[in-house]
Amino acid sequence: MTRIFSGVKPTGHLTLGNYLGAVRQWVAADQEPDEALFCVVDLHALTVEHEPARVRRLSRQAATLLLASGLDPRRCTLFVQSHVDEHTRLAYLLECTATDGELRRMIQYREKAARAQASGDGVRLSLLTYPVLMAADILAYGTQEVPVGEDQRQHVELTRDLAVRFNQRYGHTFTVPKATHPAVAARVMDLQDPTAKMGKSHENTAGIVYLLDEPEVVRRKVMRAVTDSGEGGVVHDREARPGSANLLDVLAACTGGDPKVLADGYQGYGALKRDVADAVVELLRPVRERHAELAADPGEVERVLRDGAGRARALARPVVDRAYAAIGLLDR
Ligand code: TYM
Repeated sequence: MTRIFSGVKPTGHLTLGNYLGAVRQWVAADQEPDEALFCVVDLHALTVEHEPARVRRLSRQAATLLLASGLDPRRCTLFVQSHVDEHTRLAYLLECTATDGELRRMIQYREKAARAQASGDGVRLSLLTYPVLMAADILAYGTQEVPVGEDQRQHVELTRDLAVRFNQRYGHTFTVPKATHPAVAARVMDLQDPTAKMGKSHENTAGIVYLLDEPEVVRRKVMRAVTDSGEGGVVHDREARPGSANLLDVLAACTGGDPKVLADGYQGYGALKRDVADAVVELLRPVRERHAELAADPGEVERVLRDGAGRARALARPVVDRAYAAIGLLDR
């Protein structure tokens, strides 16, 4: 068995990018509950301007959507980060392991800090230390694999560096994890700006497919996707033709084909977009249906999260206690 851990941040409605890049891999991991842990990482949502009621609503919605996507609480542990204190307890020890320089180099920090500054908001200190809390999320569980989209690669690399450094200084404490990415659609791009990642907190929503979008909305967004001008038919070239490459990747992820081979079957973008729209609508249909059922019974989701937090705590506590002892703190 491989211990896996991953998380999603409740900063917006979940997107097709979240689903294809991460959540689908979580659902496919057929596991024992103690070996697969999935987390709504609500503390991470506080690192940028946030509205308390919205974070609460989105946390509940993310948990409901993860269950609707097929996570089975009998085969995995689903919980909310802030319910398990071990994450923040461990984060402090890792802040004493990481350096200011390595955190300032994180691409996501640089992008988000620039955005916060431009909008006149200060940059929260927690935005800088975000990857340390993420490392704590992962290391607290002896995680071996972290199924994530491509954009999290640098954060998982940092997590590995911190684990190795801590182990070298204080004796073997942490398992050194590795990131795993899906073969296609590890980075789904925005349909209106195919040079940017499809992100759940972007302001212009025309290029973002949300898991709960109605079929007509999905179709409209896909049919209006920006494609590339250029000679010849449809080709799969991420550099030169990012718009069509993105559509082919999404189609391949939905239907199981190879994006380059799929490209040969199309003369023009109209037919490609129609097929992508159909495939995405069919992919999301069961998720939307199951979400509607679960949303009608919020008590059930709460029960799953409470059970999950209990199981997660029991797994994390011994690891974090070991780290506290190793770094030189007295037993309680
Ligand atoms: P978040 O909430 O931004 O995204 C959740 C997961 O979805 C993936 N993802 C994508 N994959 C492909 N294409 C896209 N356009 C796309 N957008 C998002 C992300 O890679 C991620 O796997 N820092 C993390 C949350 C986190 C975490 C952790 C993850 C906190 N602690 C510990 C793993 C382990 C984040 O912001 O994900």
